[in-house]
Amino acid sequence: MPIEWDAQDRQLHLWNGQVSHVMRVLDNGWLGHLHFGAPLAPGRSYAHLGPPRFGGFQNRPADPVALEYPVTGSGDYRVPAIVVEQPDGSTLLDLAYVGHAISAGKPGLGALPATYVEDPGEADTVEIRLADGPSGLSVTLAYTVFRDLPVVARSARLRNDGDGSLRVGTAMSASLDLADADWVMVQLSGAWARERHVVERPLAPGRVSVSSQRGASSAQQNPFIVLRRRATTEEAGEAYGLGLVYSGDFLAEAEVDPFGTARARIGIDPTHFAWTLEPGEELVLPEAVAAWSGEGLGALSDAYHRLYRERLARGAWRDALRPVLVNNWEGTYFDFTADRIVAMAEVAAELGIELFVLDDGWFGERDSDTTSLGDWYVDRRKLPGGLENVARRVEALGMRFGLWIEPEMVSPRSRLFEAHPDWALGVPGRPRTEQRQQLVLDMSRPEVVDHLAAVLTGILGSAPISYVKWDMNRYMTEAYSTALPPDRQGELRHRYILGVYELYARLTAAFPHILFESCASGGGRFDPGMLAFAPQAWTSDDTDAVERLRIQWGTSLAYPLSSMGAHVSAVPNHQVGRVTPLHTRAAVAFFGVFGYELDTLALTADERREVAAQVAFYTRHRDVLQRGRFVRLRSPFAGDGTETAWMAVSDDRRRAVVGAYRVLDRPYDGPSRLRLRGLDPASAYRVSCWPETGDAVDRANAGVRGGDDLMAAGLALRAGPFDTATRADYAARLFVLETVEEA
Ligand code: DGJ
Repeated sequence: MPIEWDAQDRQLHLWNGQVSHVMRVLDNGWLGHLHFGAPLAPGRSYAHLGPPRFGGFQNRPADPVALEYPVTGSGDYRVPAIVVEQPDGSTLLDLAYVGHAISAGKPGLGALPATYVEDPGEADTVEIRLADGPSGLSVTLAYTVFRDLPVVARSARLRNDGDGSLRVGTAMSASLDLADADWVMVQLSGAWARERHVVERPLAPGRVSVSSQRGASSAQQNPFIVLRRRATTEEAGEAYGLGLVYSGDFLAEAEVDPFGTARARIGIDPTHFAWTLEPGEELVLPEAVAAWSGEGLGALSDAYHRLYRERLARGAWRDALRPVLVNNWEGTYFDFTADRIVAMAEVAAELGIELFVLDDGWFGERDSDTTSLGDWYVDRRKLPGGLENVARRVEALGMRFGLWIEPEMVSPRSRLFEAHPDWALGVPGRPRTEQRQQLVLDMSRPEVVDHLAAVLTGILGSAPISYVKWDMNRYMTEAYSTALPPDRQGELRHRYILGVYELYARLTAAFPHILFESCASGGGRFDPGMLAFAPQAWTSDDTDAVERLRIQWGTSLAYPLSSMGAHVSAVPNHQVGRVTPLHTRAAVAFFGVFGYELDTLALTADERREVAAQVAFYTRHRDVLQRGRFVRLRSPFAGDGTETAWMAVSDDRRRAVVGAYRVLDRPYDGPSRLRLRGLDPASAYRVSCWPETGDAVDRANAGVRGGDDLMAAGLALRAGPFDTATRADYAARLFVLETVEEA
């Protein structure tokens, strides 16, 4: 059993040979934290890692005592995990250990998405009950250690066992005390069209945090942070990860105290959160996923990728290879007819593309983004035969058909808004802020969720639909619900997300064969909560190859290739106006769930040939490119950012695809060797360039090479300082490695 309870020391140790989490009931009954990170041997006491004494306050654990779920107001001045206002107005808590239960497997989190096991043998869970006598608050902390991952999944459940109302303000999913503060925080920050760029800041006395108060996890910040040592690289060194399986407001933070220790915490952002627990009521907090690596950021990402791909994503599409799609959005925007769609699909089918996605504009009278969200009936002006007709015509070409929806929104110019103005978020008597001419539906209202479930069930059942792109194109403003009493408005944002999850749960259950892709103006809600329902997400509206290097690199810190929608679009690029070669656009988009985002009818004969070859290449290597191990080799965030390289390796290490990119060329440059990683040093690999050009770089690399050689010496990215034939800006090289038997 990888969870050990030592009754004498009152110590719990979760261990699996890859990670350890050790905690201990302190003398005053509080739950102390002893260690999380490097694997420690079972069967030993680690009590010596606990506090020698309780510091400045003689009778209570105070700063810098390490705790599992710290409270506030009685000597610990660091950021707390929980703040609860009690009937007498006080917020003091003494959360004392009551008991614990160890079980095989992992219990679910009710309405909240969470990682899971398929077999109880995959993980063990300990649930530890803490209680505060005077208020009646009970906190159950759950920790799951997976058998073969350096990961501990954590959650907390609050219950009011007293007889007065409790008002929960701060309620973190996890708090993690670290013995020193010599860490660099890595965060994934950005904006629309430049999501999840890697930003790093060393911890310093005080707080370093990222958060969202937008009602969605957001493009601006992501619910994932890493704390790494200064010397940690992709390949070596220590790093912690903290991710939150949640799609709404979040806070991820690290604080350094005067004694040089650090406390990290992650959970729902407390700014707008206030939840009333009446006697007997319970509140389940979102799951936090804590991971540790002693072998660099690469191994940390490996752990998250495997867990999220295999035990967070679910349903028929979890393990299935995803289809190559073409989406008409940038090809037509709102201006299309059924015949035009079918003509585009005809070309796509000839090129080997497997799925046609009809984006925004098929419903109501939506000729622009000024109208019709909420009116989920087919626009017969554009699609006279309805969805069924266009879907069947696409299917007749041998392709599947997919559809865009944006359930959570309403246009002020719509029948739905006319009928139910109170279904949109807003404060009575004050103007509602419109963004993209739309308002946010109040997903905290069960009748709104019921209505959307009924209407969308009708739509998705009305035609052979194999794929749904669920979009969400604005953040919350005037986040107020007329369905909630004044003193419950602090619950709205969380209830909204619960409503979104409820709708997702109903639709994915009703249509298990449909592949869902989540989207929020691109990657504005790319988070683990969404991945539990939609195994892939539209990574960014920015499809420019150069921009995508940074976006996909940053996203890959936490999220697997199988989750990242990546498309080739037309040039000049619609977001940045850049003109990059078609080959480069594909060579970047191959590392993800590949597709196209353009008007296939506008492709020249040469481009059609190239696209057909790209689709054939991707489908041949799709298993590696979607499910292989992703290895980051050269960072677009390092140096002048002009070089990026990465690779995907099959689990058996017999095949790999390497992508190497150069944004701007540099004259009179050396051979630039790219050392690979993750290969079998004892195997021989046939190296080929794709496409084969026979140029000097091809010739320098093609042939059979040992895995040891490829990892120690690497591939040559340059033919030499005077070889101008292979030089260009926005250049990409792809190498395919396949093991061969040597005589
Ligand atoms: C934003 C998405 O990210 C785009 O791909 C597209 O679906 C538009 N919305 C449609 O309005």
